[in-house]
Amino acid sequence: MKAIEITYKKNNKEKLSYEEIRYMVNSYVKNKISDQTMSEFLWAIYYNGLSMDETYYLTDVMIKSGEIIDLSKLKKKVVDKHSTGGVGDKITLIVSPIVACTGVCVPKMSGRSLGLTGGTVDKLESITGYKLKISKEAFIDELKTVGCAVISQSDKIAVADKKIYALRDEIGAVDSIPLIASSIMSKKIASGSDVIIIDLKVGAGAFMKNIKDATKLAKTMVNIGKYYNKKVICTLSDMDSPLGLNIGNSLEVKEVIDFFNGKYDKRLYELSVYISSLMISAAKGITQKRAKEIVVNLLESGHAKNKFKEWIKYQGGDLKKLKDKCKKYVIISHETGYVNKVDSLKLATLVYDLGAGRHKKTDRIDYAVGVSLNKTLGQKVRAGDVLGTIYYNKRVKNFEERFVDAFKIEKKKKKVKKIIIKTIK
Ligand code: URA
Repeated sequence: MKAIEITYKKNNKEKLSYEEIRYMVNSYVKNKISDQTMSEFLWAIYYNGLSMDETYYLTDVMIKSGEIIDLSKLKKKVVDKHSTGGVGDKITLIVSPIVACTGVCVPKMSGRSLGLTGGTVDKLESITGYKLKISKEAFIDELKTVGCAVISQSDKIAVADKKIYALRDEIGAVDSIPLIASSIMSKKIASGSDVIIIDLKVGAGAFMKNIKDATKLAKTMVNIGKYYNKKVICTLSDMDSPLGLNIGNSLEVKEVIDFFNGKYDKRLYELSVYISSLMISAAKGITQKRAKEIVVNLLESGHAKNKFKEWIKYQGGDLKKLKDKCKKYVIISHETGYVNKVDSLKLATLVYDLGAGRHKKTDRIDYAVGVSLNKTLGQKVRAGDVLGTIYYNKRVKNFEERFVDAFKIEKKKKKVKKIIIKTIK
């Protein structure tokens, strides 16, 4: 087999076989073909697409390039939840303990995200003592005892994806639906869950900018699940505005603590209850309506809050010691009207400049910094009201103007966009 011939075939819009895709991926992993040759192959896919079977072949080869986790010894239903990444998205920290309360296991292996704001791993690292690296045995023990565990993703899972994703990032070939679908699903399937719930973010602050492309991606991921007999469910949720009232690692952990104490942003509550109900209903085979009743009860009774504390403590974290040392700058509104828009991308870019995100895996981040919103979508603001607060350690030029610029305050109130767009099963 020759790499150049396989790429030529794809450029001619011909279908590739399992062996051809395996040859390309494995040769690249073993450094038998160069970055240049692999880039040409990836561009051929980028421009010509892959059929559903070809997308499955690529996923399967990437799964088999690394370790496959066997969670069958748990003897419980196992459900994973994945978010494609959004601004202020802290819902893994909320839904994992809720679902664990029902006897369903939630094992999460989170990658260290490269993004404007921190990922789940960074939020957890803002809790002093929290251990993200534990042995496989300790992970299984925690799932048996607590029911949920969140650790950093092993480098041994979907090894080929890691190398190919890095190359795609470098050459600008990330936004291809079959490449994204196979990349996400190879890691999810190798991680061993029976049910995979994907929160696919759509909008300004997400990498999927429109509903049409997001729907296509969702359908592709659901179909990949069918090849493995795994239930995959994708919910499309709005990411034009940030999720919740805080963006920044320790600030988001504080918001999760508030959430379990009954103080929450409406949209954050709605999405958290929806996703946890979906996870429980899919794992237990009950209706989503019944699952929602269970979730609401777990929140109101304090069981979910206790489970959250149990989980964090089990992994060594001390919720009373968050890495939150910084200065504050309060922003006052000069306008009166209704908040008709909060631009998630503008706020995320500001939070990145404050130091909460990273471009390279080795970049150090500041866990304490970020922004919190006192006013959000649909709310009335009067001149003189507090609009929000910037938490900083280094002053960023024009940070007040940039914060205010993310808000659109108008005389007439506009209808607030629904957080849940649709669910594809
Ligand atoms: N996230 C992934 O894991 N892979 C992609 O290709 C895009 C987003």
